Amino acid sequence: MDISGLSLLLTLFILRPAAKASAEEITWTYSGLVGQSEWSEYFPECGGTAQSPVDVITTQTKYDSSLIPVTPLGYSQHGNKPFTLYNNGHTAVIELPEWMGLGGLPWLFTAVQMHLHWGSGGPSHGGSEHTINGLSADAELHVVHYNSELYPNMSAAMTQRNGLAVLGILIVVIKGLKTGEETNPGFNNILNYLSRIRHAKQSAFIPAFDVQTLLPKDLGRYYRYNGSLTTPPCYQSVMWTLFNERVQISKAQLLKMETLLYSSTAEEPDRMLLQDNYRATQPLNHRVIFASFSAESGKELSPGEVTAIVIGVMCGCVGLAVIVRFIVKTIRFFRLLHLETVVVNNSSTSSWDILHNNRPAPMPRTKKPEEDEKKQDMVMNSTSDGEIKDKPETDP
Ligand SMILES: *[C@@H]1O[C@H](CO)[C@@H](O)[C@H](O)[C@H]1NC(C)=O
Ligand SMILES: *[C@@H]1O[C@H](CO)[C@@H](O)[C@H](O)[C@H]1NC(C)=O
Repeated sequence: MDISGLSLLLTLFILRPAAKASAEEITWTYSGLVGQSEWSEYFPECGGTAQSPVDVITTQTKYDSSLIPVTPLGYSQHGNKPFTLYNNGHTAVIELPEWMGLGGLPWLFTAVQMHLHWGSGGPSHGGSEHTINGLSADAELHVVHYNSELYPNMSAAMTQRNGLAVLGILIVVIKGLKTGEETNPGFNNILNYLSRIRHAKQSAFIPAFDVQTLLPKDLGRYYRYNGSLTTPPCYQSVMWTLFNERVQISKAQLLKMETLLYSSTAEEPDRMLLQDNYRATQPLNHRVIFASFSAESGKELSPGEVTAIVIGVMCGCVGLAVIVRFIVKTIRFFRLLHLETVVVNNSSTSSWDILHNNRPAPMPRTKKPEEDEKKQDMVMNSTSDGEIKDKPETDP
């Protein structure tokens, strides 16, 4: 057998398992051998045209008044049965009871699980999957539901259009607080138990808790678009709801998320920290992101902007007062001139002509009721200068 025959055999031998293995047994990662850019080689949908996450460019979103607030159903009725917390090697997953669901969408959706995505560098170093105007949050919570009106279960729904509804909650570390202060108690229901599932494939029962405490208060303002699972197999079946309001956690809480878990199993000799488990934003490809609120009315004013507006309004009022005063004085002045013209000079010049010329018509310098006009203001003086100043003092 010659060299080319051998290399052909070798090639076939090497290629065949790879081609066959393009299913669940492929261990994908966020970086490395089967990193994000390789996902689509094994999971074709990851190379699709409606992928998630995306960057939300707020000026390019489209306001849709039909987008009513989403309503969590049974999120607070957690009961006594513990939740299961699981390290799947990619994230920490909390399985949710099937009586939890989501309303406010065209179909009824049933809750399945929730999980987190985070970074590695502490606050302000990325970690969220979705970004808004190019800006990352520190972490992101996803609450996954399937369309239980159209499909019998999660596995049937996840490959179908409108099969899933995922809530995306951006998480940021509260600024200006010392480490440990002002924790978000809702998130401790998860974070306090991460130490029990440090290695991949480990799971633990955790006390059931009110899942709604993890959501922002304002469920009425969100972005909606058609997208995908953000992990392989990247099925393009998700109606995304990304809330406008971010939830806050402490720096210590973020550090627990970022440093406690391993992507490696307990049996593996090399421990691999589970970090930076967020996918890069994907092209929109002509998709439209809808907003349940109009960007302008929703904008909150900063103290600086409020001050600027107050000063602006005050200046405007003062300016208006000056103009009104000027007009009143001008009218009074020309009315007097007109009287003089008619009475004293008996000329044919009308007050209209005078106003039209915007200055007094030539006329004999007779008299002027100085008492009435002695408080001429500067505006008046500058416009009709000489005429007023050298008025004779004689009264008719
Ligand atoms: C989900 O539903 C499909 C279609 O009815 C069924 O074939 C499948 O066995 C179900 N899977 C699970 C996990 O229940
Ligand atoms: C998602 O796609 C469906 C068509 O399958 C369309 O009717 C719907 O308006 C889209 N939703 C959004 C938010 O783009």
